[in-house]
Amino acid sequence: MRKILFIHGPNLNLLGEREPEIYGRLTLPQINEQISAFAVKCGVEPIFFQSNHEGQMIDFLHEHRRAATGVVINPAALTHYSYALRDAIAAVNLPAVEVHLSDIHRREAFRQISVIRDVCLTQISGLGVESYCRGLEVVLGFLARQEFQKLLNEEINLDDAYRACVKILKRDFPKYNWVGIYLVEGNELVVHNYIGAPTPHLRIPIGQGICGAAVAEEQTIVVAEVNADPRYLACSLETKSEIVVPIQGRRMYGEIDIDSHAPNAFHDHDQKMLEGMAKDLATFIDKITA
Ligand code: DQA
Repeated sequence: MRKILFIHGPNLNLLGEREPEIYGRLTLPQINEQISAFAVKCGVEPIFFQSNHEGQMIDFLHEHRRAATGVVINPAALTHYSYALRDAIAAVNLPAVEVHLSDIHRREAFRQISVIRDVCLTQISGLGVESYCRGLEVVLGFLARQEFQKLLNEEINLDDAYRACVKILKRDFPKYNWVGIYLVEGNELVVHNYIGAPTPHLRIPIGQGICGAAVAEEQTIVVAEVNADPRYLACSLETKSEIVVPIQGRRMYGEIDIDSHAPNAFHDHDQKMLEGMAKDLATFIDKITA
C-alpha cells in the first residue's frame, strides 16, 4: 500500500478549542479519522504527524523520505516564513501539496504569503478537512500520470494503453464510479473499454449527449449535475456528475469519459490531471501512427 505523509504544523494540536470560528470544531484526532477513512478508500496508508517544532517536522520528512510516496502538509504558521521547511520539502523530492483549513487568502495580509507553495504541486485552502482530501487527490493524480507515462515509454500497444489509462483512473479515485474511453469512428464515438456498470451507450453520434458535445466542441466538459443538463444521455440513475476530456493530437482520437455517483465530483485538479493523461495518450497515438 502506498504510504502518504499527512503533516500538521504548530498549534494544530489544539484544533477543536482553538479559534473554532476560524478552524471549526473538529479536533485533530477527528480530522485524522476523516482523512484516514478517505485515504483507505483510495488504497493509501496514511501516516500522521503533528508538531509544534519546525525541526521535528523537518526530521520527520527526512526519516520518511524513502518509505513514503507523497506528502500532504498543513505547515500552519510556518507556511508564511519557514525557508527551512521549504528546503526540506524540496530536498525529499516527494510530490507534496500544501493545505489549509481556513481560506488564507481572505485573512490577514501576512497569511497570504506562502514560502512553501513553490515546492508543492499546488496549494488548497479554505475547505476544512476537504482541503486534505483534495490534497491527497492531487498527489494521487501526479503519481497516476507518472505511472501512465512510464507505461507509455515501455513497449506497450495502443489497446493496452487505452486499457491501462482506464484501469489506473478507476483504481486510484473512488469517486470515479464509471471510467471509459470512446474512440472516434466516422461520425460516431465507439466505446473502447470501460470499468463500471454496463452502459447501453456503446456508440454515440458525435454532437449527441455530453460525450458527443465534448468531441464536437473540442473541449473538456464538466457537468456538476447531470440531471440538470438537457444534453445528458441517461444511463444510470446513480450518476450525478460527469467529466468528458477529448483525446486530441494530430486529429481527434476520442475521449476519456468519467461518471460519479456524487454531485459536483469533478474539480479543477481532476480536469488538469485528466487533460494531462489525455495529452499523454494523444502524443503516444501521434507517435505510433506517424
Ligand atoms: C492554517 C492557516 C495558517 O495561517 C495558520 O497559522 C494556522 C492554520 C490553516 O489551516 O488554516 O495555524 O494553516
